[in-house]
Amino acid sequence: ASDEEIKCTVKQLLAQLFEQSLRTTVPDEPDVEPLVAACTGKFGDYQCNNAMGLWSKIKGKGTQFRGPPSVGQAIMGNLPPSEMIESSSVAGPGFVNVVLSKDWMAKKIQKMLIDGIDTWAPRISVKRAVVDFSSPNIAKEMHVGHLRSTIIGDALARMLEFSKVEVLRRNHVGDWGTQFGMLIEFLFEKFPNSEDVNEAAIGDLQKFYKASKERFDADSAFKEKAQQAVVRLQGGEHKYRQAWAKICEISRMEFDKVYQRLGVLLEEKGESFYNPYIPGVIEALSNQGLVEESEGARVIFIKGINIPLIVVKSDGGYNYASTDLTALWYRLNEEKAEWIIYVTDVGQQQHFDMVFKAAKRAGWLPDDGNTYPKTNHVGFGLVLGEDGKRFRTRSSEVVRLVDLLDEAKSRSKDALIERGKDKEWTEEELEHTAEAVGYGAVKYADLKNNRLTNYTFNFDQMLNDKGNTAVYLLYAHARICSIIRKSGKDIEELKKTETIALDHADERALGLHLLQFAEVVEEACNNLLPNVLCEYLYNLSEYFTKFYSNCQVVGSAEETSRLLICEATATVMRKCFHLLGIVPVYKI
Ligand code: ARG
Repeated sequence: ASDEEIKCTVKQLLAQLFEQSLRTTVPDEPDVEPLVAACTGKFGDYQCNNAMGLWSKIKGKGTQFRGPPSVGQAIMGNLPPSEMIESSSVAGPGFVNVVLSKDWMAKKIQKMLIDGIDTWAPRISVKRAVVDFSSPNIAKEMHVGHLRSTIIGDALARMLEFSKVEVLRRNHVGDWGTQFGMLIEFLFEKFPNSEDVNEAAIGDLQKFYKASKERFDADSAFKEKAQQAVVRLQGGEHKYRQAWAKICEISRMEFDKVYQRLGVLLEEKGESFYNPYIPGVIEALSNQGLVEESEGARVIFIKGINIPLIVVKSDGGYNYASTDLTALWYRLNEEKAEWIIYVTDVGQQQHFDMVFKAAKRAGWLPDDGNTYPKTNHVGFGLVLGEDGKRFRTRSSEVVRLVDLLDEAKSRSKDALIERGKDKEWTEEELEHTAEAVGYGAVKYADLKNNRLTNYTFNFDQMLNDKGNTAVYLLYAHARICSIIRKSGKDIEELKKTETIALDHADERALGLHLLQFAEVVEEACNNLLPNVLCEYLYNLSEYFTKFYSNCQVVGSAEETSRLLICEATATVMRKCFHLLGIVPVYKI
């Protein structure tokens, strides 16, 4: 049982106890589920809030109880004995407050240190999920919106993977569509000999795109050729396919530079992948009677939305929606995903809303949106510049992401050099730390906000070593590691031979926060909100600071226990960094 137990969050363990109590307290109400939440008040660590709701359910039924407080008393009295509870009390209109046993807490933390932090992973009842993220468009710029999608999507994927969900990390790149006709024709014009086509020759694909667009708009003969090129590409003509593949490859190299720096893994299944499946899916939807004619196009009407979802354009071509409906079909039927998560800016919310509703009409998804299989659009706000407008460079060009990340790194390297680290460390250590801090700062500045809000991109702020920044947190972790190192004790040995005690109030508060790690990850996963984990991590460092300033570690009578508390804190911090895609550093 104890192996089972360690996997459960504190909240779940308490909920189990309250569930037992509820079955005894109100045997005639077997459907009532325990409502347990962590509380910040001084009366307890957790609270059960069932009494009031229960009272309104049973008061008309000739019950023995006299009101919510007496229901609360009974719930408390019927709690089975448990080593995890130190004491309990009833407050106000029947809230049952629980104070956890500090010995039990200490034992749980110690067990984690021995068995590893993965034993604290929450359990999410999904076997396989798709996270559709990053998803830039070929030959167009990969902009800060794609950066946000990459950072948020990666964090969500990491949290789900930690929770034992198999995640298909999908890069739904825009690699199909009419713009390719123009690009291919322009490529043929510039490089009559296909051998000459390579990244160096093309240089900047975005400039190439612009130039071909100008040509397209100015020259009707070119335009005609470009339109034919689309048809020939879609018809599968070798020469056209090859040119298309070349353009995709060059774009991909640029995307990969960003992914490499960020340490993000993705598997590309672009729009083109789903193209062959579209006719079949549309036909099946038509056979169900869902597809109607409207102004020459074929559309699906959706209740409550006054514009229909266009699935075949009036020229017979497919569009973004045809592809997304088909990709959803594929993910549900071929990939057997139970949870499909799309990470894009909030501007695409209506698109996804319509695609999901169409899928519900087709019976692919249950109507309620809670039972699996399930889809979620994870929207996010804009990245703003100092001027409060969309983030741009000074020359009002779109920011090149590689340059942005390189600047983050070089700024953090400069800060390290300013502190004389170039004299203390090897070049390799300096580079490694500059990358961890620089990229970590960019990621954390993005993730710490509720994703729906816009945020202002500011290097000085995100690279500040004070306040709620990655730099501050990375340094806090490194400092804990150095406390342990400098103690001269073998921490692996201590884990096995010494025990943790949480006697001081600040030790206990830190210990409780450590124990809440799993339920926070669970909440962040269920609500698809990485900022919840950032907040937890920041608070963890605050609890640690309080502990460290009030409890002497090295040289005290409690030294070994406190070193173990330090180690547990560093371990949980590292796991948080890992889940946020941030690389921890050990020296500062
Ligand atoms: N390529 C799109 C864009 O840049 C994002 C694709 C998101 N994923 C999807 N399945 N539609 O806006």
